[in-house]
Amino acid sequence: MFFICTDCRQRVDEPPKPVWLCPCGRPFSVHYEWEEIKRAVDVDTNENSMWRYESVLPPVNKRVTLGEGKTPLVSIGNNTYVKDETVNPTGSFKDRGMSTAISMAEAQGVSDICLPSAGNAGIAAAAYCQESGIECHVFLPETIPESFKKKTEKYEANIYLKGQTISDAAQEMLETKTADWFDISTLKEPFRIEGKKTLGYEIAEQMNWNLPDVIIYPTGGGTGLIGMWKAFKEMQGLGWITGSLPRLVAAQSDGCAPVVRAFQTREKLTAFWNNSNTIALGLNVPGPLGGTWMLDVLSESGGISVTAKETELEFATEDFRQSTGINASAETGVVWSVYHVLKDLAWIKQRERTVLFATGLERG
Ligand SMILES: Cc1ncc(COP(=O)(O)O)c(C=O)c1O
Ligand SMILES: [Zn+2]
Repeated sequence: MFFICTDCRQRVDEPPKPVWLCPCGRPFSVHYEWEEIKRAVDVDTNENSMWRYESVLPPVNKRVTLGEGKTPLVSIGNNTYVKDETVNPTGSFKDRGMSTAISMAEAQGVSDICLPSAGNAGIAAAAYCQESGIECHVFLPETIPESFKKKTEKYEANIYLKGQTISDAAQEMLETKTADWFDISTLKEPFRIEGKKTLGYEIAEQMNWNLPDVIIYPTGGGTGLIGMWKAFKEMQGLGWITGSLPRLVAAQSDGCAPVVRAFQTREKLTAFWNNSNTIALGLNVPGPLGGTWMLDVLSESGGISVTAKETELEFATEDFRQSTGINASAETGVVWSVYHVLKDLAWIKQRERTVLFATGLERG
């Protein structure tokens, strides 16, 4: 295993532990000696979690796992499928990234971790830390619903509240944290992406190693998009898939759409989205660290970034729930709206296979 900076491109074989950002301040991505070496599909089919893809994950002596992943891919007709991540142990896809990140944190001797969160990542971090015995510090916006706080506290994490968005909570964390707290903010440590990439491997396996044409993903910090794209590239190198890769769609609410704005104006960087506001809490990320990385993935995949109308979001979410029976949160309402827009525009053709993401449970 080694690391390549996503910005200055330097390769580092033995970074200081716990592995964090490149010295240049930008994210590292994890790489492996096995990349580009063809081998037969190597999945541990006896394992009913994302660790069935252990052969492509960072090597760990001891997994911190709660049984995350191996979630259903539900056909809803019209060549369309829903990846139902609401059934994960703490109710969201964030569990995948936390399983690898906390496994690696434990292996690297971390005693305390901290992160800012819009809600679900904090709950997942708390649960995996409790499982491993690491102390967890979660920084949330003051606007966080009571149900998220309760769940985070149930897993014995320390909670800190500040401001209106995850950016305000992140600022508070930087002012509060002590030097020995390991900061696992989105993309600052490289192993959350490794867990997230199992989304891509899992979709491939569930579709018989024939990827869909389009994937619509509710995009906040972007780890899911970036992780899936990494998985697709790795599978090409391994020879597990052939043919073209899916076009990725980053769906955002028009109440907070820094990726859509940058994509549409062909910027290389996302600019901070002022006064963001959306009921899709996980998408209220006005200044994502991985903005450029996401924009690169979108254009490389031939994808697009589209907004859903915030004013129609409650209705769209309810419509999704009624149509599919999946009790998903408002982030999925964003996906549902964007799906219909792209179908109406025939950007998604009738015969094209589309995967929609239900990333998290409605917490009420
Ligand atoms: C339910 C839900 N969907 C989507 C997202 C956005 O995910 P990402 O940061 O991978 O873009 C989040 C993030 O908090 C979330 O909680
Ligand atoms: Zn660098």
